[in-house]
This record gives sequence, structure tokens and C-alpha cells, in this order.
Amino acid sequence: MADEKYVLAIDQGTTSSRAIIFDHGGQIVETGQLEHEQIFPRAGWVEHDPKEIWTNVREVVGRALSRANLTHRDIVAVGITNQRETTVVWDKTTGEPVYNAIVWQDTRTDKIVEELGGRKGQDRYKKKVGLPLATYFSGPKIKWILDNVEGAREKAEAGDLLFGNTDSWVVWNMTGGTDGGVHVTDVTNASRTMLMDLETLSWDEDIAKDMGIPMSMLPEIRSSSEVYGEGREGGFVPGVPIAGILGDQQAATFGQACFEVGMAKNTYGTGNFMLLNTGTEPVASKSGLLTTVCYKIGDQPAVYALEGSIAVTGSLVQWLRDNLGIISSAPEIETLAKTVDDNGGAYFVPAFSGLFAPYWKSDARGALVGLTRYVNKGHIARAVLEATAFQTREVNDAMKVDSGVELTELKVDGGMIANETLMQFQADILGVPVVRPKVAETTALGAAYAAGIAVGYWQGEQDVIDNWAEDKRWEPSMDEEERERTYRLWKKAVTRTFDWVD
Ligand code: G3P
Repeated sequence: MADEKYVLAIDQGTTSSRAIIFDHGGQIVETGQLEHEQIFPRAGWVEHDPKEIWTNVREVVGRALSRANLTHRDIVAVGITNQRETTVVWDKTTGEPVYNAIVWQDTRTDKIVEELGGRKGQDRYKKKVGLPLATYFSGPKIKWILDNVEGAREKAEAGDLLFGNTDSWVVWNMTGGTDGGVHVTDVTNASRTMLMDLETLSWDEDIAKDMGIPMSMLPEIRSSSEVYGEGREGGFVPGVPIAGILGDQQAATFGQACFEVGMAKNTYGTGNFMLLNTGTEPVASKSGLLTTVCYKIGDQPAVYALEGSIAVTGSLVQWLRDNLGIISSAPEIETLAKTVDDNGGAYFVPAFSGLFAPYWKSDARGALVGLTRYVNKGHIARAVLEATAFQTREVNDAMKVDSGVELTELKVDGGMIANETLMQFQADILGVPVVRPKVAETTALGAAYAAGIAVGYWQGEQDVIDNWAEDKRWEPSMDEEERERTYRLWKKAVTRTFDWVD
């Protein structure tokens, strides 16, 4: 149809940047995708080149549009979704980043975090920001850059530097960069910095001061669905409104239509992130979960979530491929795991970035335990897949305690859900069905919906609900005794990773 219009989503993720064009039915029309380099300068450090990311974003949008035989004139709005917490600091006059992006998985801020906690401990800011002090979040990463990059602090104090997660970096460049780019973020991304007050949804000057971060660096906090600006003239989407921003996990929650209190989704990406909608009041966690903003549509009240963040799931499969060479492509993990019936007694706890939820231990490091002469690479492949499911069970148990909500099923999305062995084991270990939607690209879809709703292309959440459709469901089939036995061993294996760093 010549007059049919579309929404474009840009998903700036940890391993790649993607552009996906959606039609009014929420179906994928075309995609473009490019991976970027993962830079590991030292043990525990993870960086990205922000300029490579920006180049890739432009390239993938161009690819998606040309494959679909469309131009920017066919696009009514652009939604942005992004790897959260990853920290970019750039010079607003030159547009140059002062340092590589420090990625959410990076643990170099462990000392900063410890010092900030001081005698008050890890939960010093938790009441206000919903997060424990941990290397995961942006604030301490900004502090590291200002403390360690020559001249950065002076420039920041003179008002010359800007901070953003990759949403802000992309939007600033898309809307004009040094020629008047808008410096914004949305409430969901802001809720991952440790700098935003969850009640007022504004930056907390006291915390910024404790971290030595000038307020002038911080982007303006906006809702997740409104027009922030337009694509710059001469750019790849000139004049098209940029109308949605959501952190990738919140975007997936939106795309999975988790609009009611008690609804949850779990995304299997580089890491795993389970979010449970808790409604318009933030709920504090006593069990190691994060309180975070789920979404905010225009001037409607913000909706909050409890989140269980797991640092390493899909990236463990990549590690097996890239660092050990046991498999040559990620899907091979399933073929290898299927050569055995069980884990042969092996448990792999991938605490590569310390342990996130529900432990929050920056000084934990990975362990492969339960080894005997019997164990072969099939068992290790199996243990790698099981690690994802066990970690999800731990997060789910914490959610039960914090919210009192017993999950009746788990909606899943992300790259690893193509792995049927993992999905079956996940259902077995949780004891509830696991459900995969027809459109599994729920992250990009959620950002597209946020943007489309802002410009009236979709009317609101009901369109998202109407478009959502189930593809497949896995029913639990493991007996209770076996489930609890293997889970107990997992818990024991986790304790072997504690207190590893001197
Ligand atoms: O909090 C980190 C998360 O947003 C990263 O997601 O899918 O890029 O691994 P992903």
C-alpha cells in the first residue's frame, strides 16, 4: 500500500545495534543489524567505542530502509531502546567522547562503590534510587571517567561535557549533535544511573554531589513516550519525530504487554533481566531485586517494576565460543548439550562481573564445580545452559518474597529463547509454563510502540495487547524432588564464587 506508514525502532544493545521497521499490526517489515567491538583492556573492564556505535546505528537504519524499499518519508516516528547503564561522556563542542563507553558489565568501579558506601554500606542510596551501590550503574562510572581522564573534571565543571547512556548519545547525534542536538533521556534509563529520585523522577543533587558529578552534564529527564526532537536535516531520518525512549529491558516489558500489576517477562540476552510490573508506586525490595521505572507514557503516572538483573547468561555462550573455542557458533551449544542427558554433576556459575541479583557481590568470580573424570564437553554445555535457568529461578524466588505474586507463567524473549533445551529446562526448574510470543523482538517492538503511541499511530496499550500473540509454550515435566535436588546443588555452587577478589 503506497500510503501505508511504519515505525522505526533502533535497538542499541550490548553486542549489536539493530534497526527494525514495524507495521501497524506490530509485525516486522525489515531489519538491519551490526555487531560492534567488545573491548577488554584489562580483567573486569569492558568498553565500547561510542563512535563505532553511532556509525553502526546510521548504517543499520540505512540497511533496513533500503531492504524494505522505504524512505524516511514512510516512517512516522522513531523509537530508541538501548543497553542501559553503559556510560558515555562527550565534549559538547566537538562531539568527541572523552573516553570509551564504560559498559554495564565493567567492574572497575568496585573501589569507588565501596568508598561511596562507607560506613553506611551498600544500601546507602537505595531508598531514594531503588538500587544498591554496585559497579553495574552509571553514576560511579561517570565518577571514574572524571577522576581518571586527564582534564575531564575541569571540562565537566566548566559545563563542556555531557553524560548519557547510549540512548542520549544516539538521540543527541540524530537531532543535530554539535549543531543543537537535544540532550535528553527517559525515566527508565535515568532510573539506572543511581542519580534519579524514584518518587520525584528528577536528578538528586545530593547524590550527584557525593559522586562529584556536575549537574550540567546530566540530560533532561523526559517520559518514555513523547516527541523529543526530529531527525536532523541531512541525516538518515530528516524531520521524522523521535518519540520513544525506553531502556531495553523496560522496552521488552512494554512489548510483552505486561501492563497489569503482577505481570512479568524475562529477556534472555547478553544477560537476563526479569521485570515484574508493580504499578504506580515503587515497591522496595528486601530480597536483592532492583526497584526501577518500568515506563511512563507522556504525562500519565510512571509505572514501576521490580527487576532481577543477571549479568551473564548469553555472554557465557559467547565466552565458550570466543575464549574456549568449544563451539564455533552460539546455536551449537544446544547440539552439544543434547549429546548428554544431564549435567553429569557439573555446575557453572558465571560470576564474570561479580554476581548481580539477588546477591550483589562485586568480588565474586566465576566457578565451574562438581567436576569428575566423567564430565565431558557435552556436560559443560549443559551446565552453561542450566546456569541461565538456575539464575532465573533465584530471581523468581526473590520476586515471590518481595511482591507476594506467584507467577503462573513466564513470558520470555531475547536471543536464547530459540534454544528449546534451555526453555524446557527453564519450565522444569521454575515449575511453571514458559511462553514465547510470535514476535520475539519485543525490545525493539516496545520502543516502536512507545514512539507510535506518542504520535497517535497507535492509540495506547490496548493496541499492544491486541497485537500480542502466543507462539509456543513449554510445560514443566521434571518431578519436584529432582527439581529441588539440582537447585540445591546450584545454590551450593554459587557460594563457591564468593569473596574471590583480594
Ligand atoms: O542492564 C543491561 C541491559 O540493559 C543490557 O541488555 O540485551 O544489551 O544485554 P542487553
